[in-house]
Parts: sequence; C-alpha cells; structure tokens
Amino acid sequence: MIDIRRLEKSFGALRVLQGIDLRIRPGQVTALVGPNAAGKTTLIKCVVGLVVPDAGEIRIDGVPIRGAWAYREKIGYMAQVARFPENLTVAEVLRLVKDLRESPAKNEALLLGLFGLHAFLGRPLRGLSGGTRQKVNLVLAMMCDPEILILDEPTVGLDPLASRRQKDRILEERARGKTVVLASHAMGEIEELSDRVVFLLEGRVYFDGTPAELRARTGEATLERAIARLLERDGR
Ligand SMILES: Nc1ncnc2c1ncn2[C@@H]1O[C@H](COP(=O)(O)OP(=O)(O)OP(=O)(O)O)[C@@H](O)[C@H]1O
Ligand SMILES: [Mg+2]
Repeated sequence: MIDIRRLEKSFGALRVLQGIDLRIRPGQVTALVGPNAAGKTTLIKCVVGLVVPDAGEIRIDGVPIRGAWAYREKIGYMAQVARFPENLTVAEVLRLVKDLRESPAKNEALLLGLFGLHAFLGRPLRGLSGGTRQKVNLVLAMMCDPEILILDEPTVGLDPLASRRQKDRILEERARGKTVVLASHAMGEIEELSDRVVFLLEGRVYFDGTPAELRARTGEATLERAIARLLERDGR
C-alpha cells in the first residue's frame, strides 16, 4: 500500500502539487491521468524518491519513505525520459542496473524475449530507435520482479505487438498481486488495464474512482469523452 497524505511540491513560484491525498492499493492497476503539466511525473518522482516534497508524507507499507531509502528495492520504475550513458551497450546497462539491485533479475531473459531484444544486446544505446530504448527501459523496470511497478507512459512509442505484450504483462503482474501505477494519456490502455483512475488537475486529485464511475458521472460512453467532458464542464 502506498499512502500519500497532503503532499505539496512547488518549483519556484509554480505550485505543482497542492495537497495530494491518495492511497494506492496492491493487486490493482492505478492510472494517473490529467493534462500535460498536471504533475503526474512529479508525483511519481516523489514516490520513487527523485523529487523531495515540500510538505506532506508518503508511506509505503506503513513506513515513511523520507530518509529510509531501502524501500526503493521494492519498486521498479520506468521514467518518462530515461537517461543512461549513451555509449553503454544494452547488455552493459542491464549489468549496471543488476549490480545496483539486491533482488536477482529473474525476469530478464523472459522480458528480453518478449520484446525481441536479444539481437540488440551488443548495441550502444545511442544507435537505438526510440521504441527499442523504451523496450530496454521496460525490461530494466520489470526484470527484478519488484512488488511495486511505477511506469511513466509505458507504451509510448511501442509498436502494436510490443504494446500488446506490455499491456498483457501489466495484467499478469496485477494477477500476481503487484501494485501497478501508470501515468498515461492513452485512454484505450487505461480503459483496458486500470481498476482505478486518478485524475490530477491543478495540483489536486480532481477525480478518484473506477473507469465505470467516471463514465457514469459524465454520462459518456468512453473514457476519453468522459475526461474531455470533465474538463469542458469547468470552462477550460
Ligand atoms: N525540476 C523541475 N524544475 C522546474 N519545473 C519543473 C520541474 N519538474 C517539473 N516541473 C514543472 O512542473 C509541472 C508538472 O510537470 P510534470 O512533469 O509533473 O507534469 P506531467 O503531468 O507529468 O505532464 P506530461 O503529461 O506532459 O508528462 C510542469 O509545469 C513542469 O514544467
Ligand atoms: Mg509526465
């Protein structure tokens, strides 16, 4: 369980998170949605410890994360924009991350096969296509079989086969009781995968419920129309 209370974060005068209250349950896929610059990535970075909040608290399984960094071992994180040294090969990046993690990379071979990456192991990152990089980033996030998966726009740039396989992977992780958090703008993906939609707007949780509840609240048949309706209703 990830428990977020009254979380606040500003960058200078820009108040990005203005009191986020959210409990993220295991065995569920929670989708973070909201317009560009709503603070989805900032919230995720607070959970993984890359951004330090100004106020509020995050607890994972009851333990406040501040100053207690061991919790990160439980998390597999895929950044929206990942940065690794460009001269490293795929195999070298995998090695680097395996050396940093305590848990063995038990899913590595399976995931490399799933995304057809064996042929790229000897290639430096700088020569990879955008989608191939995205696949490598997904393998890095998932290979050590973490309890909590936090994926910032996981299928952006993936071809249809890889995207399908990634989505099936997320459903399998959920079936195994994992906690999955994903930020996404892909409404079809959210509709299919998520148990819960958390809509961030202007630094707060604007809606928190199931996709069906969101559709019912707006009277719209699809999630995309439901979210567009919510935004329009407020005169944005
Ligand atoms: N390190 C930083 N320094 C200054 N401003 C930042 C920093 N990180 C994020 N911001 C600002 O905070 C706001 C929220 O950014 P964030 O990346 O969390 O949005 P997002 O909801 O993930 O958007 P997107 O859908 O485009 O990915 C933006 O206005 C962004 O410019
Ligand atoms: Mg983002």
